[in-house]
Amino acid sequence: MNLKVFYHPECALQKCKDILHKLTLGTEYSFNYNLCPDPKSLEAGSLYLDKLDQLVFVGEENQKPIVFSWEKALQFWSRESYSFKKTPLLKALGVKEGDHVVDATCGTGMDSAFLLHAGLQVTAYERFFPTYLLLQYSFLYEKQQKSLSENLPLKIIFGDYATNDDQWECPVFYDPMYDDGSKRKAKTNKEMSLFHKLLKDTEDDSEKAAQLLREKTKRLVIKRAPKGELLLKGPNSQWKSKSVRFDLYI
Ligand SMILES: C[S@@+](CC[C@H](N)C(=O)[O-])C[C@H]1O[C@@H](n2cnc3c(N)ncnc32)[C@H](O)[C@@H]1O
Repeated sequence: MNLKVFYHPECALQKCKDILHKLTLGTEYSFNYNLCPDPKSLEAGSLYLDKLDQLVFVGEENQKPIVFSWEKALQFWSRESYSFKKTPLLKALGVKEGDHVVDATCGTGMDSAFLLHAGLQVTAYERFFPTYLLLQYSFLYEKQQKSLSENLPLKIIFGDYATNDDQWECPVFYDPMYDDGSKRKAKTNKEMSLFHKLLKDTEDDSEKAAQLLREKTKRLVIKRAPKGELLLKGPNSQWKSKSVRFDLYI
């Protein structure tokens, strides 16, 4: 499949192309590049290489472009002052520093960044190609710029965790779609609404997905709104904070 990527005349085009090329290896995707000095003239959801060499999703009218940055996501978590070891997610995962965790639905990468910041090794799955591109582009670009450590223990996999043959010995974290009926607004802002709209078409049946994940792993943690319905019956335990609940299935 040929995807259009627009670029600002001042971006370091060859460098950006080299990174993007790596991301298509082994996939059905390729790119064609089109000069565009003003991204405002582009349709919302277009992919754009801006003059800072960032790969962004063009936002809807009057909204900022959507850009992912592992560096910024890690900085966000490092500004949080609470004790990481005591957070409900880590308790639910039952992990210690250096352990491996699968994030089955990477999305914006904020939860994966949290897990990395807590000292875990993370394998993150993302099956929506544009999202995968933004995640993986930022990962490779920022490592090249040395704003991310070369040794950051993160592997981003393009694909569906469900159809992947991997069996995971480690705990798996599952965050279903954004509009799961909960009132959860965490990290959702105006710009991200476009992103959520794009993803809505690819939405799974979360209950089936949870069941499948349960069969593939020995320890599954599902993120829910504090009063959200259970996706699977009979969690072994639940950990809650003000804005979120984690249900553990062993
Ligand atoms: C609610 S978001 C996850 C939010 C994420 N925890 C964060 O911090 O942004 C769900 C993401 O998982 C992806 N996804 C949904 N089902 C998937 C599947 N079966 N395999 C891989 N990725 C999936 C979607 O494309 C979407 O980007």
